[in-house]
Amino acid sequence: MRVLSIGNLNMDIYVKVRELPRPDEAVEATEHYIDGGGSAANFAVAIRRLGAEASFLGAVGEDEVGERLLAGLEEAGVHVGWVKAVPGAPTGVVVVVLGIDGSKRMIAYRGANLDLAPDDVSPEAVESVDHVHLATGRLEIVERGVSLARAMGRSTSLDGGSALARRGLDEIREAVDGVDVMFLNLVEAHALTGLHEPLEAARKVMRGLNVGEVVVTMGDGGALALERRGHMHVPAFKVEPVDTTGAGDVFAAAYVYGWLKNLEQRTRLLMANAAAAIKVTRRGARSSPTLGEVLGLLGRHGHEIKF
Ligand code: RIB
Repeated sequence: MRVLSIGNLNMDIYVKVRELPRPDEAVEATEHYIDGGGSAANFAVAIRRLGAEASFLGAVGEDEVGERLLAGLEEAGVHVGWVKAVPGAPTGVVVVVLGIDGSKRMIAYRGANLDLAPDDVSPEAVESVDHVHLATGRLEIVERGVSLARAMGRSTSLDGGSALARRGLDEIREAVDGVDVMFLNLVEAHALTGLHEPLEAARKVMRGLNVGEVVVTMGDGGALALERRGHMHVPAFKVEPVDTTGAGDVFAAAYVYGWLKNLEQRTRLLMANAAAAIKVTRRGARSSPTLGEVLGLLGRHGHEIKF
C-alpha cells in the first residue's frame, strides 16, 4: 500500500494555558513544546506508522526549520523526495494554544506552503502510489491532485479543512469531482452546507458533490460515515485528552488505511476512532499510534479486527 499525502508542512509551537490573555495582558503557560506539524505531513507520518509506504509532497523554505522538519519526516520513514524547497520563503509555522482540556486554537503563518503550485504536483509522484490524500484548502492544488489521480486510476481522499469548506458546495464541485473519501469535522460540515445536524449535512454533501463517501468527525461524539448504500455512526472511545492537535489527521490516516485494506465501514470507523483516541492522550500532532497499539485498544474493548 503506497500513499502520497499532499499539502502543508509546519513547525508547531505549543503553549498550554489555563486562560487566554486579554489585550495588554500576559498569562503563564503551564507547558511548552515544539513538534513537526502540518495536516498533510501528519497524515503521512500516521499512515506510515500503521504500516503503509508513505510519501509527502509540499513546500518548505531553505532554512533550518525546513531542514529539521524534513529530517523528522525521513526519520519517521516518510519519503520526502517530492518536496519543493523555496528559496527566500520561511517554512510554515503554527502557534498552537492548548487549553488544559487539550482543546486547541491555532495561529498559522503559511510561509513556503503557499508557494506550492499545481504543477509541483507531478504526474510521476502520483503515478508512484496507489492512493493520493489531499490535506489542503487550496482549491487549485486539490483540483490538480484529484484530476491527476483519477486520470491514472489512483484512489483519493480529501481533508480540505475550513478553508475549503467555507467556499461552499457550488465552488468546490468541479475540483473535488470523483474523490473517494471526503473528511469534514462538525464545524466544516456546517460551513460547507449550512446545516448543523451532521447526518443531514453529510447527506447534503453527497447530493451536491460526486464523492464516494463523506466522513464527519465529531470529537468526543464519535464519527459517522455516509456512502450511497447507507451510513454508520460509531461512538468515540472515552479518554482523558491532553492535546487534540492532529487528531483529525490521525483519524483520516487510520480510516484510509482501513479503506485501502477493504475493511467494512464500521471497522474503518472503529480503527480511526481508536487511533484518534490514542493520539489525543499524547503531546504533539505527530504522536500517532502504531497498528499494534490501535488493535490493542480495540481488543481491550472487545473488537477483533481481521485483515
Ligand atoms: O491538523 C493539525 C495541524 O494543523 C497542525 O499540525 C498545524 O500545523 C496545522 O496545520
